[in-house]
Amino acid sequence: MKSELQKSKTSLINKLKSQSNNNKIIKAFEKIPRELFIPDEYQHLAYEDTALPIEYNQTISQPSIIAKMINELDLSINDNVLEIGTGSGYLFAILSELVNNLTSTEIIEPLIKKTKIRLNSLGYNTNNIHLTNKALGCLKNSPFDRIIVSAAAKKIPDQLLKQLSNNGNLIIPIGSEQKQELLKITKTLKGLVTESLDSCKFVPLIFNKL
Ligand SMILES: C[S@@+](CC[C@H](N)C(=O)[O-])C[C@H]1O[C@@H](n2cnc3c(N)ncnc32)[C@H](O)[C@@H]1O
Repeated sequence: MKSELQKSKTSLINKLKSQSNNNKIIKAFEKIPRELFIPDEYQHLAYEDTALPIEYNQTISQPSIIAKMINELDLSINDNVLEIGTGSGYLFAILSELVNNLTSTEIIEPLIKKTKIRLNSLGYNTNNIHLTNKALGCLKNSPFDRIIVSAAAKKIPDQLLKQLSNNGNLIIPIGSEQKQELLKITKTLKGLVTESLDSCKFVPLIFNKL
């Protein structure tokens, strides 16, 4: 790795360390080469703490926001986890370092094809990355202990709540295209408990309401 990129990687990792003392998460960020998940013209920015454009008008999310989301998920190795929005596969790779049962869904077919090739070349199993169009999530692999959504919805989608197990958590950006709040929703026997984690800006979640 070029020394400039290495320097910015070190400073990004230090920033993540100042936000989380979860070593497993930090190690996953240290291990995964973010520059391999983004188009050539942005690779010099790979370790800036910012979202960057990827193919098909989508984005790879901001590292500190996804670190916060993963931290809040409080993952255990055997949790059954659903990621919505595979995109470049970067978050999928990070999560694959942390859990054994990971399903991911994406709606852009050519993107998913490219991403699977990339992830396979890095040694990740992509059998549980699924193309979805009208449905949201992956009923056949549900219920999920944890659901992480890296695209923004106007309101919390019922389809996802149905796929969440009791005591499970869903982390999702909710709001308009311009302004969103990152919410953590816990499904309890008494109902949903919602906590606001941060403000954020993600691309829109596209789905057909049932
Ligand atoms: C911010 S990008 C995801 C970034 C990705 N996690 C990464 O690490 O590169 C959001 C992705 O969500 C996808 N998306 C939008 N609506 C979706 C849906 N209903 N189901 C699955 N993916 C969806 C978009 O096509 C886009 O690739």
